[in-house]
Amino acid sequence: MNFYLGILAFVFFSVFHVLLVSGSSRNLPILSFDEAYSHLFGNDNLMVLKDGKSAHISLDERTGSGFVSQDLYLHGFFSASIKLPADYTAGVVVAFYMSNGDVFEKNHDEIDFEFLGNIRGKNWRIQTNIYGNGSTNVGREERYGLWFDPSEDFHQYSILWTENQIVFYVDSVPIREIKRTEAMGGDFPSKPMSLYATIWDGSDWATNGGRYRVNYKYAPYIAEFSDFVLHGCAVDPIEQSKCEAAPTPDSIPGGIITSEQRMKIENFRKKHMQYSYCYDHSRYNVPPSECIINSKEAERLRGFDPVTFGGVHHRGKRHHRSSSRSIQAKTSSI
Ligand SMILES: *[C@@H]1O[C@H](CO)[C@@H](O)[C@H](O)[C@H]1NC(C)=O
Repeated sequence: MNFYLGILAFVFFSVFHVLLVSGSSRNLPILSFDEAYSHLFGNDNLMVLKDGKSAHISLDERTGSGFVSQDLYLHGFFSASIKLPADYTAGVVVAFYMSNGDVFEKNHDEIDFEFLGNIRGKNWRIQTNIYGNGSTNVGREERYGLWFDPSEDFHQYSILWTENQIVFYVDSVPIREIKRTEAMGGDFPSKPMSLYATIWDGSDWATNGGRYRVNYKYAPYIAEFSDFVLHGCAVDPIEQSKCEAAPTPDSIPGGIITSEQRMKIENFRKKHMQYSYCYDHSRYNVPPSECIINSKEAERLRGFDPVTFGGVHHRGKRHHRSSSRSIQAKTSSI
C-alpha cells in the first residue's frame, strides 16, 4: 500500500514540479490574446488560435507580422511561451520586447529579446539588449546559445523590470541581470513601455551580419506564442500617474534573485554566452558602469574571439561597427 502511495506522491510532485517551472511558475494570471494584445502589422500573417490563448505570427515573401500590448506598463513581470520556426531560418528574426518608440520618438526606452535564425542544423541564438532615453548609440547587446532547440517546443521567455533592476529569464533560468548605476543616468529604461512580438526579415543584419539571407523557399516561417503574462503597472505614458501597487522585486513572485539563482546565472553565462558588450574592447575601452566583469566569462569569450575580447588595443584602426539600430526603426520601416 505504501508503495502505491509513494508512486502517487511521486506522480503528484512531478506534475507539481512541471507546473512550477513552466508557464504558470509564478502563479501570475495567464491572459487570453484579446485581453492582452492587439494586431500590430502583417494582415492575416497574425493568427489567433481558436482557444484564444495562443497566436501565430508568420513571415512570408509579402510581409512579416506582429502584435502589441493594449497597455503601456511602468515596471512588472512580462512573459510569453514561444516556439520558434524550425529548419532553415537564416535571416529570420523573431523579437519579444518592450518599447515606447511610438510615444517617445527621440528618447525611447527598450528591453529586448531577439531570436536570430540560423542555417540548418545550427540552433537559434538569442540576443538581449536595452536602451534608455534614446541611448541607441551605446548598445548593450549580449548573445547566447541555448541548452535546447527552441524550435522543438514552447519555452518561457520573461522580462522582470523594476526601478533599479532588469532580469531576463529563459524558463526558470535567469540569464542576465542589469542593475541600475548612477552613471547610467537615463540609459536605464524608465518610462512606460508596451510589449511587442514581431517576426521580420533581418537578412541585412541577423545571421553573420547578413551573410545568409532569408530563403522564401522555406516560407512561411511561423513563430508560436502562448501563456501571455503581463503583470505590470498599466499607466498613461504621458501623465505617468502612479499605480496603486507598483510592482517591486518582492511583490513579484520570484522577483528577488536568490543565491541559487545567482549560481544559475553564472553557470549559464560561462557555458552559453557568445557575445557581451561588457567585454568588447573594440567598442569600449572602459566597460560601461553597469558591467560586472567576471573572469570566467572573459576567458570564454576570449576563446571565441581573441581580437574582440582580448583587450589588445588597435590604435588608429578601431572597428567601425554599424551601430545597432533599434528594433523600432526596423518595425516601423515595414
Ligand atoms: C532624456 O532625454 C531628454 C531629451 O534628449 C533629456 O532632456 C533628458 O534630460 C534625458 N533624461 C535623462 C534622465 O537623462
